[in-house]
Amino acid sequence: MRLQSGNIVLRSFRESDAPRLAELANNTKIGRNLRDGFPYPYTLENAMDFIGRFKDHISFFAIEYSGEYVGNISLVPLDNVHRKTAEIGYFLGEPYWNKGIMTVAVNLVTEYGFRELGFARIHTGVYEFNPASQRVLEKCGYTKEGIFSKNVFREDRLWDEVRYAKINPEYE
Ligand SMILES: CC(C)(COP(=O)(O)OP(=O)(O)OC[C@H]1O[C@@H](n2cnc3c(N)ncnc32)[C@H](O)[C@@H]1OP(=O)(O)O)[C@@H](O)C(=O)NCCC(=O)NCCS
Repeated sequence: MRLQSGNIVLRSFRESDAPRLAELANNTKIGRNLRDGFPYPYTLENAMDFIGRFKDHISFFAIEYSGEYVGNISLVPLDNVHRKTAEIGYFLGEPYWNKGIMTVAVNLVTEYGFRELGFARIHTGVYEFNPASQRVLEKCGYTKEGIFSKNVFREDRLWDEVRYAKINPEYE
């Protein structure tokens, strides 16, 4: 699967992405915005394991910027009565922040999730201390649906989580 807009491409992972994935992901400024389980330090072995598990997945993508691997984006389907919903997740290596890359990637993957995978809703929870991610979702037309107070335990304290969602126009 390959999605493209200008010099930004979303494609399947390759084993050759592993060294750069390990380098970029080994950054607490990235990991603190994700869930526990995102490793730190992030080793080459972690990167190879991740790529091995997800390289053939239809909704896990490597992000390329001008031909270079720069980050990850995924849609994870929920189950049971929530099976028409997917959770979106993403990160970009710090050298590439604030160039508009993730805004393009989120738009591409949201469109794909609605049109090709048939999700009715795509959502995520952003920690209160992550204004950049909240801004990305707002720029992509996601709605701030509410605040889950004290829903996140990180760094020995509780934080609010901000829920953002976008609805497939076909289901509105
Ligand atoms: C969040 C993240 C994906 C953003 O990617 P990006 O490519 O830099 O995002 P964009 O450049 O498309 O947009 C970033 C927006 O946030 C704004 N922004 C950045 N830092 C900010 C801050 N501290 N306060 C307020 N706004 C901020 C930028 O100005 C920009 O908005 P603008 O276009 O209106 O100026 C990236 O910083 C990242 O990977 N962070 C760590 C992992 C993470 O947070 N993942 C998401 C978990 S929910």
